[in-house]
Amino acid sequence: MPIIRVEQVSKAFQVDGRVFYALDRVSMEARQREFVSIVGPSGCGKSTLLNLVAGLLDPDDGEIALQGDRSAPRLGRVGYMPQRDGLLPWRRLLDNLTLGPEIMGRDVAIARERARSLLPLFGLEGFERSYAHELSGGMRQRAALLRTLLCEQEVVLLDEPLGALDALTRRTMRDWLLDIWERFERTMVFVTHDVDEAVLLSDRIYVMSPRPGRIVSEITVDLSRPRGEGLLGQPSFISYRDEILNTLRESSA
Ligand SMILES: Nc1ncnc2c1ncn2[C@@H]1O[C@H](COP(=O)(O)OP(=O)(O)OP(=O)(O)O)[C@@H](O)[C@H]1O
Ligand SMILES: [Mg+2]
Repeated sequence: MPIIRVEQVSKAFQVDGRVFYALDRVSMEARQREFVSIVGPSGCGKSTLLNLVAGLLDPDDGEIALQGDRSAPRLGRVGYMPQRDGLLPWRRLLDNLTLGPEIMGRDVAIARERARSLLPLFGLEGFERSYAHELSGGMRQRAALLRTLLCEQEVVLLDEPLGALDALTRRTMRDWLLDIWERFERTMVFVTHDVDEAVLLSDRIYVMSPRPGRIVSEITVDLSRPRGEGLLGQPSFISYRDEILNTLRESSA
């Protein structure tokens, strides 16, 4: 049974009296412990899709089930790192990091200790007492990622979590993400613009069309793990990448 199941979901928004169709009958799923990526052009509805799965929005049409349950509220049942980092400006870094466990009524002292122990790995050591505006864009993004993972939900939705990072940090964070996913048996839904990254990380990739977003292709990445950077030049890797790039090109034409 898929842990996330989105069935024929459509969503429109009204802006200044005009209706914008963001998603058009989108179906996707993620099975337990799967790493699923979503790629698609800007504005195709990727963030909207994650907002729907997280329960921040409701579909106009179609159904979303978490763990097979279509009717239970979804809010609070998945870990979610939204595209905008959502760090609270009035909280210092460490208090931002422990927000999830705090809201869920968990032991905050334990959460703080765990957060503290992970600060070096995320390049945030020494900034425990900083406010969000005192951090760089990349630091904010790493903080938001760490905060999401500290919620310790089995299902984690990540909306371009690595977008603001330099190449080297991006690689480190990507490896760390894979490690978390494997070690803690998470189910990940990952939005990215980076096709190479999607192929490197994913078990399955959904490719979306421009607005209104539809799923135009579903690709199972049948490459053995662990997958290192060395894979980038391999014919098998390149053929996945080209397939996705071609699909994106064709659906935008
Ligand atoms: N709350 C909202 N109210 C009105 N329109 C919205 C709202 N949220 C999203 N939209 C519209 O829905 C469409 C999809 O937006 P969304 O943010 O999901 O795209 P995206 O694929 O995540 O894009 P990007 O890659 O740039 O992040 C856009 O046209 C956007 O303007
Ligand atoms: Mg987005």
